[in-house]
Amino acid sequence: MRVVFPVIVVTAALMGSCGEPEPASPHVVSLERGKGLYTQVCAQCHGLDARGVPMLGADLTTSTFFLESTDDELVAMISKGKPAADGRPPMPPKGGRLDLTEHDLLDIIAYIKTLSHEP
Ligand code: HEC
Repeated sequence: MRVVFPVIVVTAALMGSCGEPEPASPHVVSLERGKGLYTQVCAQCHGLDARGVPMLGADLTTSTFFLESTDDELVAMISKGKPAADGRPPMPPKGGRLDLTEHDLLDIIAYIKTLSHEP
């Protein structure tokens, strides 16, 4: 008995220190990934330089909507897509790539922001 007791105390102390919750790791934006995904998914309608394609996607580099919206608002809009308007076809949700995650969209948004400027 005199040997077993201290062993239990040490084990309990070790187990206690393992149970700390890991802090949620914040998303680290990758412009490299954003560019790759933009090129694969969005460029077909918005152009490789994001300046838009006539009768398809709008110019994103001068879009006031893009410049004035928060990342959350942009993620929401891109996830939902846009109905057809002004003779343009609708934008499909996530540009048709439903497997894109919120992190993917944040990377894409960060990349587009490097191309944006005031209209
Ligand atoms: C199949 C074509 C298509 C694809 C793919 C596509 N879009 Fe669009 N997008 C559109 C159309 C059409 C509009 C509406 C045009 C307009 O607003 O003048 C639009 C509008 C937008 C707008 C709103 C612009 C504004 O000023 O209101 C944003 C932001 C946008 N797209 C981002 C994206 C992103 C990011 C991707 C890639 C994940 C993407 N789009 C993929 C066709 C597309």
